[in-house]
Amino acid sequence: MTATRTYGYTDTLDAEHYARALNADIRAGLTATPKSTAPTWFYDARGSDLFEEITQLPEYPLWRAELGLLQQHAGDIAARTGARSLVELGSGASTKTKLIIEALGPTGLRYVPVDVSADALHQASAQLVTDYPGISLHALRADFTAPLVLPELPDSGSRLLAFLGSTLGNFRRSTRGPFLRGLRDIMRPEDFLLIGADLVKDEGEMVTAYDDAQGVTAAFNKNLLHVLNHELDADFDPDSFDHVAVWNADESHIEMRLRSRAEQRVKVRGLGLSVPFEDGEEWITERSAKFTVDGLRAEMADAGLRTDRLWADQEAGFTLILATAG
Ligand code: TRP
Repeated sequence: MTATRTYGYTDTLDAEHYARALNADIRAGLTATPKSTAPTWFYDARGSDLFEEITQLPEYPLWRAELGLLQQHAGDIAARTGARSLVELGSGASTKTKLIIEALGPTGLRYVPVDVSADALHQASAQLVTDYPGISLHALRADFTAPLVLPELPDSGSRLLAFLGSTLGNFRRSTRGPFLRGLRDIMRPEDFLLIGADLVKDEGEMVTAYDDAQGVTAAFNKNLLHVLNHELDADFDPDSFDHVAVWNADESHIEMRLRSRAEQRVKVRGLGLSVPFEDGEEWITERSAKFTVDGLRAEMADAGLRTDRLWADQEAGFTLILATAG
């Protein structure tokens, strides 16, 4: 008989918290002009699976670019940080994190994956404690756009906070600064922050990464409609919306949108709303900022984060920045 490996689990997004945050964001977002909602809600079990599929698409090179940078530099990251705790925001399947875990040395390492998807957390955690029996894992289900309270981290030894996958770009520009400053505020002088960010490149390449030939990204985008139908008793017909990806040069981000194929009204019973859509109206469901190395360093410096080391894959247009709360 094999022993069952275990891990700790804290859910800060119990049904009530999740519902409150979802209601507030969707009500505000669907009554605004233009309509615009947070990307958080894509990630139910199906959304997290679709996202994992996206990472394997030929059109989505950023995931592999970041993997390549981590393969090359995880040893250096481990040597520079000497971290014995690793906290990862938006951990998903934790696939790439394994490179960091192995470089830091899994035995006795505290790993805290943070994600909104309970299924993604449980799947990843079960796998990790099997692969690394000596790891000390505590999964945290939380919405990291709200202030973070981290569970049971050891007081001693440096901590590494990892925020990979260019998820930083999914914040709007106006909220990125406060978010980074919030991270800085929970860092001690010996702690590090590792950020993976996609860089501005050829417009066609950037757009294609969010509009693949197989339609996986379209399914991911429309998964939001399934989530709202299920969670808010809405009656969105996913076939009455088209998936759209456009480059917004002024804001330096890709926008994912859902475009209404007709004039229609959609009932969101859970919110007591009847939401009108014009024919062709576009609802912004996600923003994905593309950075320049200098711009990102400056944003981090403004938030009190000092760059310790920076690695870039110029060809793929992706960067990893290791920073301290300098
Ligand atoms: N952080 C990822 C990004 O902005 C998330 C992502 C990748 C994504 N592909 C997507 C989000 C497609 C929505 C749709 O690139």
